[in-house]
Amino acid sequence: MAIRPAFFMAASLLLTTCAPRQDTSTQVTPQAESMQHMLVAIETVRNYVRNTTTQREAEAATADLATWAGKLGELFPPATAPKLYVDMTTDMAREAPGVMIASATALRSAVATGRLPIVAMQLERTEKDGCGFCHRRPYRMPPP
Ligand code: HEC
Repeated sequence: MAIRPAFFMAASLLLTTCAPRQDTSTQVTPQAESMQHMLVAIETVRNYVRNTTTQREAEAATADLATWAGKLGELFPPATAPKLYVDMTTDMAREAPGVMIASATALRSAVATGRLPIVAMQLERTEKDGCGFCHRRPYRMPPP
């Protein structure tokens, strides 16, 4: 199991190098997929802060964020992930899942209060402490 993501990455690397760039949708790794789900969750909470979506949507998003955070340990095994991702250290891979789960849970609790200033503050913290644990700069949804 620990070896599979490594194999998958190697395979997709070969594909992107050799194969004609056609159907990129089939080349999305589970790692990239997890990130896209987490980004959608973060952006949904941002929309809630902006009052453009409902608390119910934000609750569903933070539940989703916590679920994906719970998969990080499996998706980025400390033994292999640092070899695949230049910026990732072994300590980072070991600690990131726990940190991300904690900050996703904190965001979920903030959303449950229904108080937007509290949600806004925690959203910033979750991006900084959680996503920022691995990413130096926060990801934003590309403009449509
Ligand atoms: C375990 C460390 C880690 C954490 C925590 C983390 N990321 Fe990532 N993220 C990565 C790595 C590694 C990649 C590169 C993945 C790849 O190329 O397959 C990545 C890639 C991405 C991408 C690009 C995905 C794509 O389509 O290629 C987005 C967007 C992203 N992360 C958003 C987030 C957001 C938002 C959070 C917080 C909710 C977050 N990440 C937390 C490690 C992390």
